[in-house]
Amino acid sequence: MESLRIDNTGKLIVSGMQQANGILEISGAKNSVLPIMAACILTDEKIILRNVPDISDVNTMIEILESSGKTVNRVKDTLYIEKSEKINSEIPYEPVRKMRASFNVYGPLTVINKISKVALPGGCSLGARPVNFHIDGLMKLGIESKIEHGFVYGKIKPIEKSEVHISLDFPSVGATEHILTTATLIDGVKTIINNCAMEPEIDDLANFLNKMGANIEGIGTSKIIIHGVKKLHGIDYKVIPDRIEAGTFIIMGALIGKNLTIKNINAEHLESLFSKLDEMNIEYNLKGNEVKISSSLNKKLNATIIDTAPYPGFPTDLQSQMMVLCSLIDGRTTIKENIFSNRLSIIDELNRMGANIKAENNNLAIVDGVRFLSGAPVQATDLRSSAALLLAALVAEGETIINNVDHIFRGYEKIEEKLKNVGIKIEYYE
Ligand code: UD1
Repeated sequence: MESLRIDNTGKLIVSGMQQANGILEISGAKNSVLPIMAACILTDEKIILRNVPDISDVNTMIEILESSGKTVNRVKDTLYIEKSEKINSEIPYEPVRKMRASFNVYGPLTVINKISKVALPGGCSLGARPVNFHIDGLMKLGIESKIEHGFVYGKIKPIEKSEVHISLDFPSVGATEHILTTATLIDGVKTIINNCAMEPEIDDLANFLNKMGANIEGIGTSKIIIHGVKKLHGIDYKVIPDRIEAGTFIIMGALIGKNLTIKNINAEHLESLFSKLDEMNIEYNLKGNEVKISSSLNKKLNATIIDTAPYPGFPTDLQSQMMVLCSLIDGRTTIKENIFSNRLSIIDELNRMGANIKAENNNLAIVDGVRFLSGAPVQATDLRSSAALLLAALVAEGETIINNVDHIFRGYEKIEEKLKNVGIKIEYYE
């Protein structure tokens, strides 16, 4: 990465009207590997994790595991997470503030150490992101939590019931994962989580835990049953491909692809995206675990309606990228964000590039298609808006400077290198 210090925030300088031609390989799923790493606290045996993306969120989770007392070594895309003499019960503010998924260590740490102190999480600025479902669910498993001075203090007591029912008010991904993971070691207790999230990354986590010796039923459904066991053991596990990275590059292909091939995808996990592309008349050629795609912008495309929803609905994590595509399609598209309260901040930035998008009620984007976008200085506010602005910059006329772009390294492995391999010119400045 070329390094030239302009100010303290990273920038990408991207010239527009580029074409992507060649092969892009999808990395392991960020949203799988993070809760899986948190679950490693539950065993003192060695875990080998494969297909781990080299992204800053993984580095943050490594820091958290190390501050818990684990040793973590990375060799290429494999992590070796080793036994430690003693697990610390305190996780400091610094790593936790960077990433919300770090909170998933709280339940496992409390189960293992009986007490814990974990900083409240940060992450992308996506409106209010409380952890009440986590805390309430864990309470039913015997974990009492007290929040003081930005930390959660946990204490576990044996529960008298042999069966615990938890019903989530909303199918939260993080809460499902956190409760599911923690419940695996509540020995002798059957935990039933109703209205749980069904994201593929949750299946991946549950498969990982079962391989470690957990007893989880109902994987892939909205009712997961966990029979608590005494002990979990070390394993060797490969995480699934990242469907959001894949979706981002597929949308890029629809914008600027020229026989772009995207390899190592799981098409089943991307059904909501593919069916939207079909509806919009965007062509692609899907065969097994790869998809070939060229720009469809010279065709008559259909405006559409996008409503983000928990899986298998349209993912909120692809909403901003789709907004870029829809902004170049004749007619009016409406995009409703139903998961996060503050995920439309990209509208102002896209409008600076010549898009015609209005926000209504803080969660509805009304996108009227324009003929072209034009390069401009813009500001990224979160991980997915960084990716979306990059797509906009690649298709726009002229040069775009994306400020505050470092969010992108939280979730996209070697993005510059991958794009350069398909003929894209971008420059990063620290
Ligand atoms: C995960 C993903 C993120 C994705 C999101 C929704 C990871 C590491 N991150 O985030 O990429 O965008 O799912 O698919 O997997 N909520 C509460 N109380 C809680 C928990 C959540 O009110 O205790 C609310 C949130 O504020 C939000 C909604 O529920 O409005 C969904 O959040 P959740 O599914 O928990 O998202 P994350 O697990 O944080």
